[in-house]
Amino acid sequence: MSLISFNPFSHADDVGKEAARLILEGLEQKPSSTIVFPTGKTPIPMYAALRQSEPSRWTHARLFHLDEYYPAPKPGAPIPYETFETYLRRELWDHVPANQYWMEPYFNHPAKYDELVCAESGPDWVILGIGGNGHIAFNEPGSPPDSDTRIIPLSPQTQQDNFGGVHLPGYPTHAMTLGLASILKAKRILLMATGDKKRSIVERALLSSEPPHIDLPASWLKTHPHVTILTDFPL
Ligand code: PGA
Repeated sequence: MSLISFNPFSHADDVGKEAARLILEGLEQKPSSTIVFPTGKTPIPMYAALRQSEPSRWTHARLFHLDEYYPAPKPGAPIPYETFETYLRRELWDHVPANQYWMEPYFNHPAKYDELVCAESGPDWVILGIGGNGHIAFNEPGSPPDSDTRIIPLSPQTQQDNFGGVHLPGYPTHAMTLGLASILKAKRILLMATGDKKRSIVERALLSSEPPHIDLPASWLKTHPHVTILTDFPL
């Protein structure tokens, strides 16, 4: 049975603080937690709050990323976008002494990354944003709930949202993403959505009575028993 709880706040900073509080509470209960972290604009306040935590809390944690642009840029070559490794290092991973699992070394072996994430029958936490088209991680529309961790083409809308255009020279057209199957194996899922433009997709994917379907990947969260949605708008 689905047990989605909706927690609306009035400010994006409060969404980030609450996400950080829940993650740190989880780490206190289980110091060796496996946590899968997102990138994007939405989680920035969460990372600011997590950086205030005592680094020793993180010693036994296992950190993974949700997705990464593919292919990797050539070492040293200038690129017009930021890899998710660079983002995650800056926002959290370089600040905490956790066990860290980068995605790029697994580009040719996505199933191995999946095995590491799901080593204990599924991650303890998957932290998510939501795309304007309802994607979670880079599980774009068309992704079934049993989709594997894989390399996937970015939809035109995602390329537009992330880079300001479609097939722009120097920008990636693909990414590796944790599959919906592994996301749905998480013991807890936390989804943050901030900014009024996310409201309609959250309502459509998670609040409506429409059954989950592949054109709206976030709607599969309705099949998960423990999802917490944090927003800065009322629902
Ligand atoms: P955003 O991205 O946080 O930058 O809005 C979310 C997503 O595409 O999953």
